Amino acid sequence: MKVSIDADRCQGHGRCFNMAPDIFGFDDLGNGYVLGDGVLTSETLDRARLAQANCPEHAIAIEE
Ligand code: F3S
Repeated sequence: MKVSIDADRCQGHGRCFNMAPDIFGFDDLGNGYVLGDGVLTSETLDRARLAQANCPEHAIAIEE
């Protein structure tokens, strides 16, 4: 499983990096990005899904 953020959709709401700061960071504009390679583990998958569900712009994708 791998998580990604669509930079064109992200509007900097910040829920992702506030909910899961070990998965997401933020840039100088306050927009979210994925830390590292985005590969999810059994420990990070649930929080990545929570962040995905809470992003108002539906900018977060999780691929098999
Ligand atoms: Fe952007 Fe959504 Fe996170 S708008 S900062 S990806 S909560």
